[in-house]
Amino acid sequence: MLLGVNIDHIATLRNARGGIEPSIIKGAEIAEQNGAASITTHLREDRRHIKNEDVYTLINTLKTRLNLEMAMADDIQKIALEINPHSICLVPEKRQEVTTEGGLDVAGQLDKVTEFIKPLLDAGILVSLFIDPDEEQVRASAKTGAQFIEMHTGTYSECFGYEDEEAEFQKLKKSAELAQSLGLKVNAGHGLNYENVHRMHEIDGLYELNIGHSIISRAIFTGLPEAVSKMKELIL
Ligand code: PXP
Repeated sequence: MLLGVNIDHIATLRNARGGIEPSIIKGAEIAEQNGAASITTHLREDRRHIKNEDVYTLINTLKTRLNLEMAMADDIQKIALEINPHSICLVPEKRQEVTTEGGLDVAGQLDKVTEFIKPLLDAGILVSLFIDPDEEQVRASAKTGAQFIEMHTGTYSECFGYEDEEAEFQKLKKSAELAQSLGLKVNAGHGLNYENVHRMHEIDGLYELNIGHSIISRAIFTGLPEAVSKMKELIL
């Protein structure tokens, strides 16, 4: 299983001050140097974390692959076609949401999704559809021409350690098996953390996990001792 690191929340922190620190380029570089197989960023319609210039810079500086998360928006499709990332992951997007709240309804808008991803596929960009672990959505995804699905692990993650964990986990396992039998490659992500990620090993053939929040959160505390002691040293 490969690890894709989502660096959006480095940009969230940077944007809180409107400056250039912390640098997402440096963040991506550190992730790559420590085993990330790809870097994910979500260019949201409201540009709340990643900005246009970030993706134009990332595409030239990454040593691995850029996986661009995006909604079905024409202006973002245009940027994707300009920068030509290794892959895109199509997600639903609501302006008011704190993070991507549910999977893309591929079954309910099969023609629209198929048409939207066509120019991206024609340009040689790999396409992944971020869907809930649901049979109808998996079957619909297989009809679009996309090569990948990314299973939304948010509900599993929320239920981890509670009564519904097993049922939610089985939905992921069954969906992955079905998707693979239909010729799709399977990624997973959202809400995965240091406690719940181990069960992903129980799903055969998962290709990549895309993880952001828990990694950036942990990095604050693993990095804080050095950051404080260095500043203390400077002001002694
Ligand atoms: N995959 C997708 C499609 C996402 O939208 C997100 C969140 O931006 C993630 C993975 C990563 O989720 P988390 O930040 O909870 O690890």
